[in-house]
Amino acid sequence: MPIATLASLPDIAGKRVLLRSDLNVPIKDGNITDDGRIRASLPTINHLRALGAKVIVMAHFGRPKGVRVPEMSLEPVARRLGELLGANVAFISEYRGGKASDAIGKMQPGDVVLLENVRYEAAETSKVDEERLLFAQDLASLGDIYVSDGFGAVHRKHASVYDIATLLPHFAGFLISAEIEVLKRLTVNPVRPYGVVLGGSKVSDKLGVIKNLLDKVDLLAIGGGMVFTFLAAQGHEVGKSLLEADQLDEVRALITQAKEAGVTLLLPTDIVVAPAFAADSPATVVAAHEIPADQLGLDIGPVSGAAFAEAISGCKTLFWNGPMGVFEFDAFAAGTKAVAQALAELDGFTVVGGGDSAAAVRRLGFRDEEFGYISTGGGASLEYLEGKALPGITVLEQ
Ligand code: 3PG
Repeated sequence: MPIATLASLPDIAGKRVLLRSDLNVPIKDGNITDDGRIRASLPTINHLRALGAKVIVMAHFGRPKGVRVPEMSLEPVARRLGELLGANVAFISEYRGGKASDAIGKMQPGDVVLLENVRYEAAETSKVDEERLLFAQDLASLGDIYVSDGFGAVHRKHASVYDIATLLPHFAGFLISAEIEVLKRLTVNPVRPYGVVLGGSKVSDKLGVIKNLLDKVDLLAIGGGMVFTFLAAQGHEVGKSLLEADQLDEVRALITQAKEAGVTLLLPTDIVVAPAFAADSPATVVAAHEIPADQLGLDIGPVSGAAFAEAISGCKTLFWNGPMGVFEFDAFAAGTKAVAQALAELDGFTVVGGGDSAAAVRRLGFRDEEFGYISTGGGASLEYLEGKALPGITVLEQ
Protein backbone atom coordinates (compact mmCIF):
# COMPACT_ATOMS: atom_id res chain seq x y z
CA MET A 1 0.00 0.00 0.00
CA PRO A 2 1.37 3.45 -0.75
CA ILE A 3 2.21 5.52 2.32
CA ALA A 4 -0.62 7.86 3.36
CA THR A 5 0.65 11.41 3.66
CA LEU A 6 -0.76 14.46 5.40
CA ALA A 7 -2.61 15.26 2.19
CA SER A 8 -4.97 12.38 2.93
CA LEU A 9 -5.66 13.19 6.60
CA PRO A 10 -9.31 12.94 7.63
CA ASP A 11 -10.90 15.81 9.55
CA ILE A 12 -8.70 16.02 12.63
CA ALA A 13 -10.17 19.11 14.25
CA GLY A 14 -10.28 18.45 17.99
CA LYS A 15 -8.61 15.03 17.54
CA ARG A 16 -5.53 13.89 19.47
CA VAL A 17 -2.65 13.31 17.07
CA LEU A 18 0.34 11.33 18.34
CA LEU A 19 3.31 12.64 16.42
CA ARG A 20 6.71 10.90 16.47
CA SER A 21 9.48 13.41 15.80
CA ASP A 22 13.26 13.11 16.01
CA LEU A 23 14.29 15.83 18.46
CA ASN A 24 17.62 14.19 19.34
CA VAL A 25 19.65 17.41 19.19
CA PRO A 26 23.16 18.02 20.52
CA ILE A 27 23.04 19.52 24.04
CA LYS A 28 26.14 20.83 25.83
CA ASP A 29 25.97 22.02 29.44
CA GLY A 30 22.19 22.12 29.22
CA ASN A 31 22.20 24.24 26.04
CA ILE A 32 21.04 23.07 22.63
CA THR A 33 23.99 23.65 20.27
CA ASP A 34 22.17 22.84 17.01
CA ASP A 35 18.36 22.98 16.84
CA GLY A 36 18.17 21.81 13.21
CA ARG A 37 16.11 18.73 14.01
CA ILE A 38 13.60 20.78 16.04
CA ARG A 39 13.24 23.26 13.18
CA ALA A 40 12.80 20.40 10.70
CA SER A 41 9.86 19.11 12.75
CA LEU A 42 7.99 22.44 12.70
CA PRO A 43 6.16 22.27 9.33
CA THR A 44 4.27 19.12 10.32
CA ILE A 45 3.48 20.40 13.82
CA ASN A 46 2.24 23.73 12.46
CA HIS A 47 0.12 21.99 9.83
CA LEU A 48 -1.53 19.74 12.42
CA ARG A 49 -2.16 22.73 14.70
CA ALA A 50 -3.66 24.70 11.85
CA LEU A 51 -6.08 21.83 11.24
CA GLY A 52 -7.19 22.09 14.87
CA ALA A 53 -5.52 18.93 16.16
CA LYS A 54 -4.22 18.46 19.68
CA VAL A 55 -0.60 17.54 18.98
CA ILE A 56 1.11 15.10 21.34
CA VAL A 57 4.77 14.87 20.37
CA MET A 58 6.83 11.79 21.20
CA ALA A 59 10.61 11.78 20.84
CA HIS A 60 13.82 10.30 22.22
CA PHE A 61 17.07 11.77 23.43
CA GLY A 62 20.34 9.83 23.57
CA ARG A 63 20.40 6.22 24.68
CA PRO A 64 19.34 6.12 28.37
CA LYS A 65 18.51 2.38 28.08
CA GLY A 66 15.36 2.43 30.18
CA VAL A 67 16.82 4.60 32.98
CA ARG A 68 15.63 8.11 33.86
CA VAL A 69 19.01 9.78 33.32
CA PRO A 70 18.29 13.45 34.21
CA GLU A 71 20.72 14.82 31.59
CA MET A 72 18.69 13.03 28.92
CA SER A 73 15.37 14.67 29.75
CA LEU A 74 13.56 16.35 26.86
CA GLU A 75 12.53 19.30 29.04
CA PRO A 76 15.02 21.76 27.43
CA VAL A 77 13.76 20.61 24.03
CA ALA A 78 10.15 21.37 25.04
CA ARG A 79 11.23 24.93 25.89
CA ARG A 80 13.03 25.40 22.56
CA LEU A 81 10.14 23.88 20.64
CA GLY A 82 7.80 26.34 22.35
CA GLU A 83 10.06 29.28 21.44
CA LEU A 84 10.20 28.22 17.79
CA LEU A 85 6.45 27.64 17.60
CA GLY A 86 5.70 30.83 19.48
CA ALA A 87 3.37 28.81 21.71
CA ASN A 88 3.46 27.15 25.09
CA VAL A 89 4.54 23.50 24.87
CA ALA A 90 3.57 21.65 28.03
CA PHE A 91 6.04 18.97 29.04
CA ILE A 92 4.59 15.67 30.26
CA SER A 93 6.99 13.58 32.33
CA GLU A 94 4.88 10.37 32.31
CA TYR A 95 3.47 8.35 29.41
CA ARG A 96 0.62 6.70 31.26
CA GLY A 97 -1.61 7.08 34.28
CA GLY A 98 -3.42 10.12 35.63
CA LYS A 99 -0.66 12.64 34.97
CA ALA A 100 -0.51 11.93 31.26
CA SER A 101 -4.26 11.59 30.66
CA ASP A 102 -5.11 14.64 32.80
CA ALA A 103 -2.65 16.85 30.91
CA ILE A 104 -3.85 15.58 27.55
CA GLY A 105 -7.49 15.83 28.61
CA LYS A 106 -7.00 19.56 29.21
CA MET A 107 -5.61 20.21 25.72
CA GLN A 108 -7.43 22.58 23.36
CA PRO A 109 -7.39 22.33 19.53
CA GLY A 110 -4.03 23.66 18.31
CA ASP A 111 -2.22 22.88 21.58
CA VAL A 112 1.11 21.04 21.58
CA VAL A 113 2.59 18.90 24.36
CA LEU A 114 5.85 16.97 24.44
CA LEU A 115 6.15 13.63 26.24
CA GLU A 116 9.33 12.83 28.17
CA ASN A 117 12.12 10.87 26.42
CA VAL A 118 10.42 7.64 25.34
CA ARG A 119 13.71 5.79 25.85
CA TYR A 120 13.35 6.24 29.62
CA GLU A 121 11.04 3.25 29.17
CA ALA A 122 13.05 0.05 28.50
CA ALA A 123 10.18 -1.37 26.42
CA GLU A 124 10.62 1.39 23.80
CA THR A 125 13.78 -0.23 22.44
CA SER A 126 13.16 -3.81 23.58
CA LYS A 127 14.04 -6.65 21.20
CA VAL A 128 11.01 -8.56 22.56
CA ASP A 129 8.03 -7.79 20.32
CA GLU A 130 5.44 -8.27 23.10
CA GLU A 131 7.22 -5.83 25.43
CA ARG A 132 7.35 -3.13 22.77
CA LEU A 133 3.75 -3.72 21.82
CA LEU A 134 2.55 -3.27 25.42
CA PHE A 135 4.28 0.13 25.63
CA ALA A 136 2.97 1.06 22.19
CA GLN A 137 -0.56 0.25 23.42
CA ASP A 138 -0.10 2.64 26.36
CA LEU A 139 1.10 5.36 24.01
CA ALA A 140 -1.64 4.66 21.46
CA SER A 141 -4.31 5.06 24.16
CA LEU A 142 -3.29 8.74 24.42
CA GLY A 143 -4.24 9.56 20.82
CA ASP A 144 -6.64 8.98 17.93
CA ILE A 145 -4.24 8.89 14.99
CA TYR A 146 -0.49 8.51 14.51
CA VAL A 147 1.76 10.71 12.38
CA SER A 148 5.31 9.54 11.82
CA ASP A 149 7.84 12.28 11.17
CA GLY A 150 10.97 11.29 13.09
CA PHE A 151 13.03 10.38 10.05
CA GLY A 152 16.28 10.05 12.03
CA ALA A 153 14.80 7.10 13.95
CA VAL A 154 12.94 5.19 11.21
CA HIS A 155 15.70 2.58 11.00
CA ARG A 156 14.84 1.60 14.60
CA LYS A 157 12.16 -1.02 15.29
CA HIS A 158 11.01 0.81 18.41
CA ALA A 159 7.60 1.06 20.08
CA SER A 160 6.97 4.73 19.22
CA VAL A 161 8.37 4.35 15.69
CA TYR A 162 7.11 0.96 14.56
CA ASP A 163 4.63 -0.81 16.84
CA ILE A 164 2.37 2.16 17.42
CA ALA A 165 1.71 2.39 13.68
CA THR A 166 0.23 -1.12 13.81
CA LEU A 167 -2.36 0.13 16.32
CA LEU A 168 -3.62 3.45 14.93
CA PRO A 169 -4.50 4.99 11.55
CA HIS A 170 -1.08 6.24 10.39
CA PHE A 171 0.31 8.96 8.13
CA ALA A 172 3.76 10.18 7.11
CA GLY A 173 4.60 13.77 8.03
CA PHE A 174 6.18 16.36 5.74
CA LEU A 175 9.73 15.63 6.89
CA ILE A 176 9.56 11.89 6.23
CA SER A 177 7.97 12.52 2.83
CA ALA A 178 10.71 15.01 1.90
CA GLU A 179 13.54 12.76 3.11
CA ILE A 180 12.23 9.77 1.12
CA GLU A 181 11.92 11.88 -2.01
CA VAL A 182 15.55 12.99 -1.68
CA LEU A 183 16.78 9.44 -1.04
CA LYS A 184 14.92 8.27 -4.13
CA ARG A 185 16.75 10.92 -6.16
CA LEU A 186 20.00 9.45 -4.86
CA THR A 187 19.09 5.86 -5.66
CA VAL A 188 16.82 5.85 -8.71
CA ASN A 189 18.73 7.09 -11.77
CA PRO A 190 20.82 9.77 -10.03
CA VAL A 191 22.20 12.38 -12.40
CA ARG A 192 25.81 11.38 -13.19
CA PRO A 193 28.58 11.83 -12.38
CA TYR A 194 27.48 10.77 -8.90
CA GLY A 195 29.91 11.24 -6.02
CA VAL A 196 29.75 10.15 -2.40
CA VAL A 197 32.01 11.57 0.31
CA LEU A 198 32.15 9.57 3.53
CA GLY A 199 33.83 10.43 6.79
CA GLY A 200 33.25 9.84 10.47
CA SER A 201 35.07 7.56 12.79
CA LYS A 202 34.02 3.98 12.20
CA VAL A 203 34.58 2.13 8.94
CA SER A 204 32.61 -0.86 10.31
CA ASP A 205 29.45 1.33 10.33
CA LYS A 206 29.92 2.25 6.68
CA LEU A 207 31.05 -1.01 5.03
CA GLY A 208 27.51 -1.99 4.05
CA VAL A 209 26.72 1.32 2.42
CA ILE A 210 30.08 1.45 0.62
CA LYS A 211 29.54 -2.04 -0.81
CA ASN A 212 26.05 -1.16 -1.97
CA LEU A 213 27.16 2.13 -3.53
CA LEU A 214 30.09 0.77 -5.53
CA ASP A 215 28.00 -0.19 -8.54
CA LYS A 216 26.07 3.10 -8.47
CA VAL A 217 28.63 5.88 -7.99
CA ASP A 218 31.45 7.35 -10.07
CA LEU A 219 33.43 8.80 -7.19
CA LEU A 220 33.90 7.66 -3.61
CA ALA A 221 36.02 9.96 -1.43
CA ILE A 222 36.95 8.81 2.07
CA GLY A 223 38.10 10.96 4.99
CA GLY A 224 37.57 11.13 8.75
CA GLY A 225 38.77 8.60 11.30
CA MET A 226 37.77 5.70 9.07
CA VAL A 227 40.42 6.62 6.50
CA PHE A 228 43.22 5.21 8.64
CA THR A 229 41.90 1.69 8.24
CA PHE A 230 42.04 2.28 4.46
CA LEU A 231 45.61 3.60 4.69
CA ALA A 232 46.64 0.66 6.89
CA ALA A 233 44.98 -1.73 4.42
CA GLN A 234 47.33 -0.32 1.78
CA GLY A 235 50.29 -1.16 4.00
CA HIS A 236 50.94 2.29 5.52
CA GLU A 237 51.82 3.00 9.14
CA VAL A 238 49.10 5.07 10.84
CA GLY A 239 50.80 5.82 14.17
CA LYS A 240 48.31 6.31 17.01
CA SER A 241 45.42 7.06 14.61
CA LEU A 242 42.06 5.34 14.89
CA LEU A 243 42.38 1.88 13.39
CA GLU A 244 39.91 -1.00 13.12
CA ALA A 245 42.39 -3.82 12.66
CA ASP A 246 39.62 -6.44 12.37
CA GLN A 247 38.26 -4.66 9.28
CA LEU A 248 41.48 -4.66 7.24
CA ASP A 249 40.58 -7.66 5.05
CA GLU A 250 37.11 -6.24 4.37
CA VAL A 251 38.62 -2.88 3.41
CA ARG A 252 41.18 -4.52 1.10
CA ALA A 253 38.33 -6.35 -0.62
CA LEU A 254 36.46 -3.04 -1.01
CA ILE A 255 39.48 -1.36 -2.58
CA THR A 256 39.68 -4.19 -5.14
CA GLN A 257 35.91 -4.07 -5.72
CA ALA A 258 36.09 -0.31 -6.36
CA LYS A 259 38.84 -0.83 -8.94
CA GLU A 260 36.86 -3.55 -10.71
CA ALA A 261 33.73 -1.37 -10.75
CA GLY A 262 35.68 1.53 -12.29
CA VAL A 263 34.89 3.81 -9.32
CA THR A 264 37.38 6.54 -8.52
CA LEU A 265 38.34 5.85 -4.90
CA LEU A 266 39.83 9.02 -3.51
CA LEU A 267 41.89 8.77 -0.31
CA PRO A 268 43.83 11.64 1.27
CA THR A 269 47.50 11.98 0.36
CA ASP A 270 48.30 14.25 3.30
CA ILE A 271 47.07 14.24 6.88
CA VAL A 272 47.02 16.74 9.74
CA VAL A 273 48.53 14.98 12.73
CA ALA A 274 49.08 15.87 16.39
CA PRO A 275 50.50 14.06 19.41
CA ALA A 276 47.17 14.05 21.28
CA PHE A 277 43.42 14.30 20.75
CA ALA A 278 43.09 17.86 22.05
CA ALA A 279 42.14 21.25 20.63
CA ASP A 280 45.55 22.72 21.48
CA SER A 281 47.71 19.75 20.50
CA PRO A 282 50.36 21.07 18.04
CA ALA A 283 49.27 20.23 14.49
CA THR A 284 51.58 19.34 11.58
CA VAL A 285 50.91 18.15 8.06
CA VAL A 286 52.56 14.92 6.90
CA ALA A 287 52.27 12.65 3.87
CA ALA A 288 49.51 10.06 4.36
CA HIS A 289 52.08 7.24 4.08
CA GLU A 290 54.42 8.85 6.63
CA ILE A 291 52.35 9.25 9.80
CA PRO A 292 54.85 9.23 12.70
CA ALA A 293 54.44 6.45 15.27
CA ASP A 294 53.81 8.91 18.13
CA GLN A 295 51.16 11.01 16.34
CA LEU A 296 47.52 10.55 15.35
CA GLY A 297 45.68 11.82 12.32
CA LEU A 298 42.93 14.34 13.14
CA ASP A 299 42.06 15.78 9.71
CA ILE A 300 42.77 15.36 6.01
CA GLY A 301 45.56 17.69 4.86
CA PRO A 302 45.28 20.81 2.65
CA VAL A 303 46.42 19.05 -0.55
CA SER A 304 43.75 16.40 0.02
CA GLY A 305 41.12 19.03 0.85
CA ALA A 306 41.83 20.69 -2.50
CA ALA A 307 41.82 17.34 -4.34
CA PHE A 308 38.49 16.36 -2.75
CA ALA A 309 37.03 19.77 -3.71
CA GLU A 310 38.27 19.37 -7.28
CA ALA A 311 36.75 15.89 -7.59
CA ILE A 312 33.45 17.09 -6.09
CA SER A 313 33.30 19.96 -8.58
CA GLY A 314 33.04 17.42 -11.41
CA CYS A 315 29.88 15.79 -10.01
CA LYS A 316 26.23 16.46 -10.72
CA THR A 317 24.92 14.55 -7.69
CA LEU A 318 26.79 14.51 -4.41
CA PHE A 319 25.95 12.82 -1.09
CA TRP A 320 28.12 13.58 1.93
CA ASN A 321 28.02 11.89 5.32
CA GLY A 322 30.58 12.26 8.09
CA PRO A 323 33.14 14.95 8.92
CA MET A 324 36.64 14.77 7.42
CA GLY A 325 38.33 15.48 10.74
CA VAL A 326 37.73 16.65 14.29
CA PHE A 327 35.86 19.76 13.13
CA GLU A 328 34.96 20.69 16.71
CA PHE A 329 38.63 21.75 17.15
CA ASP A 330 39.57 24.70 14.91
CA ALA A 331 43.01 23.29 14.07
CA PHE A 332 41.40 20.16 12.57
CA ALA A 333 38.36 21.66 10.85
CA ALA A 334 39.87 22.68 7.49
CA GLY A 335 39.22 19.36 5.69
CA THR A 336 35.54 19.36 6.63
CA LYS A 337 35.31 23.02 5.65
CA ALA A 338 36.91 22.35 2.23
CA VAL A 339 34.36 19.62 1.50
CA ALA A 340 31.44 21.75 2.73
CA GLN A 341 32.64 24.67 0.59
CA ALA A 342 32.92 22.44 -2.49
CA LEU A 343 29.36 21.20 -1.97
CA ALA A 344 28.09 24.74 -1.45
CA GLU A 345 29.66 25.81 -4.77
CA LEU A 346 28.54 22.76 -6.75
CA ASP A 347 26.11 23.28 -9.58
CA GLY A 348 24.29 20.02 -8.94
CA PHE A 349 22.16 18.20 -6.39
CA THR A 350 23.91 18.10 -3.02
CA VAL A 351 22.78 16.24 0.07
CA VAL A 352 24.39 16.52 3.49
CA GLY A 353 23.38 13.47 5.51
CA GLY A 354 23.21 13.08 9.22
CA GLY A 355 23.14 14.90 12.51
CA ASP A 356 26.95 15.24 12.80
CA SER A 357 27.51 16.49 9.27
CA ALA A 358 24.58 18.89 9.51
CA ALA A 359 25.89 20.24 12.82
CA ALA A 360 29.37 20.50 11.26
CA VAL A 361 28.28 22.66 8.32
CA ARG A 362 26.26 24.96 10.58
CA ARG A 363 29.10 25.25 13.09
CA LEU A 364 31.48 26.14 10.27
CA GLY A 365 29.23 29.01 9.30
CA PHE A 366 27.39 27.62 6.27
CA ARG A 367 23.70 28.27 5.77
CA ASP A 368 21.26 25.43 5.14
CA GLU A 369 20.23 27.06 1.84
CA GLU A 370 23.75 26.57 0.45
CA PHE A 371 23.02 22.85 0.08
CA GLY A 372 20.40 21.01 -1.94
CA TYR A 373 19.14 19.19 1.12
CA ILE A 374 20.29 18.61 4.68
CA SER A 375 19.03 15.26 5.87
CA THR A 376 18.10 14.92 9.53
CA GLY A 377 18.96 11.23 9.57
CA GLY A 378 22.51 9.88 9.61
CA GLY A 379 22.03 6.19 10.31
CA ALA A 380 18.60 6.20 8.66
CA SER A 381 19.80 7.68 5.36
CA LEU A 382 22.86 5.40 5.30
CA GLU A 383 20.70 2.32 5.86
CA TYR A 384 18.35 3.44 3.09
CA LEU A 385 21.32 3.89 0.72
CA GLU A 386 22.56 0.49 1.84
CA GLY A 387 19.33 -0.95 0.46
CA LYS A 388 17.98 -2.03 3.84
CA ALA A 389 14.27 -1.91 4.69
CA LEU A 390 13.58 0.74 7.33
CA PRO A 391 10.99 -0.59 9.85
CA GLY A 392 9.53 2.86 10.54
CA ILE A 393 8.87 3.32 6.81
CA THR A 394 7.71 -0.16 5.87
CA VAL A 395 5.16 -0.16 8.70
CA LEU A 396 3.57 2.94 7.17
CA GLU A 397 3.02 0.97 3.95
CA GLN A 398 0.81 -1.56 5.77
C1 3PG B 1 20.26 9.88 15.46
O1 3PG B 1 20.76 10.69 16.24
O2 3PG B 1 20.86 9.43 14.46
C2 3PG B 1 18.84 9.47 15.66
O3 3PG B 1 18.19 10.30 16.55
C3 3PG B 1 18.76 8.03 16.09
O4 3PG B 1 19.41 7.87 17.31
P1 3PG B 1 19.96 6.44 17.72
O5 3PG B 1 21.14 6.14 16.82
O6 3PG B 1 20.34 6.54 19.17
O7 3PG B 1 18.87 5.43 17.49
